[in-house]
Amino acid sequence: MKVFVTRSIPETGIELLKKQGYAVTINPYDRVLTKAELIDYIKKDRYDALLPLLTDSIDSDVLDAIGPQCKIVANYAVGIDNINIAEAKKRGIIVTNTPGVLTEAVAEHTIAMLFAIADRLVEADRYMREGKYKGWGPQLLLGADIAQKTLGIIGLGRIGYEVAKRMHRGFDSKIVYYDQIRKEDAERELKATYLSLDEVLAQSDFVCICVSLTPQTKRLITAERLRMMKPTAYLINTARGAIIDEKALVLALQERRIAGAALDVFEHEPDMAPGLAELDTVVLAPHIGSATIGTRSKMSEMAAQNIIAVLHGKPPINPV
Ligand code: GLV
Ligand code: GLV
Repeated sequence: MKVFVTRSIPETGIELLKKQGYAVTINPYDRVLTKAELIDYIKKDRYDALLPLLTDSIDSDVLDAIGPQCKIVANYAVGIDNINIAEAKKRGIIVTNTPGVLTEAVAEHTIAMLFAIADRLVEADRYMREGKYKGWGPQLLLGADIAQKTLGIIGLGRIGYEVAKRMHRGFDSKIVYYDQIRKEDAERELKATYLSLDEVLAQSDFVCICVSLTPQTKRLITAERLRMMKPTAYLINTARGAIIDEKALVLALQERRIAGAALDVFEHEPDMAPGLAELDTVVLAPHIGSATIGTRSKMSEMAAQNIIAVLHGKPPINPV
């Protein structure tokens, strides 16, 4: 069996594949392959499985190029917006992802970003490095209080729940949430209140976006919805950039209609919306939500285990 891995990932999963006797080919460059390069590579051989990253767009051209013997696309991510699921299904190709193993890492990163923006931590670090600190000041770099504030979770799935749980238990946050489905267990456990999306935006001091990117959630946070937020509120996005109308967000920040934003994801990564990086009221990170050593190893194993199951004719462990 032959497996193509679109970029070097932690060895844990690669070893599992090799233990099966599979021939594993890995993109030799430490960068994303262009679509043309990827097609070129996968056409060179007859691969039974593809292990792509969220940075690879797996569309009908790529699925055609890999050929009918390919049985599985095992995405190295929980998000699957980079894969055309309908086209894969049409070809009988199974798609899997890596849920669960990255939940806590992403939740912790979301909370880190929330604290970073509320506490003005990154701004403070820049201030120190630039030699601006001339002595303690009563009005220096005043941030926002976090404890007991209202935390709005958009998408109370695995990650959203872990963010809410930690913030409720650790910081006494009042949890409000919006989801397509009501989560009554979470409502009991976290004293969470289910609200409409617009009400979550209107009531929250912090809004965390924890929903996957789908056609329904694309540009969910429109200019109009940003106007519903309090001028003292913060928006934190560790899900996918395209969930927010980024141009509208930049404008809202420039006009100080919201207090700040912490963004780990961008619609056109690695590019950012013009004007974003000039703002002091944002904290920016290069899509590192799941970037812990432990989590990335587990993601590698999970992708490999899905490939092994399917190539043994068994059902996938994490089908999409
Ligand atoms: C990361 O963004 C993922 O979807 O795993
Ligand atoms: C702050 O450093 C304080 O002592 O209040």
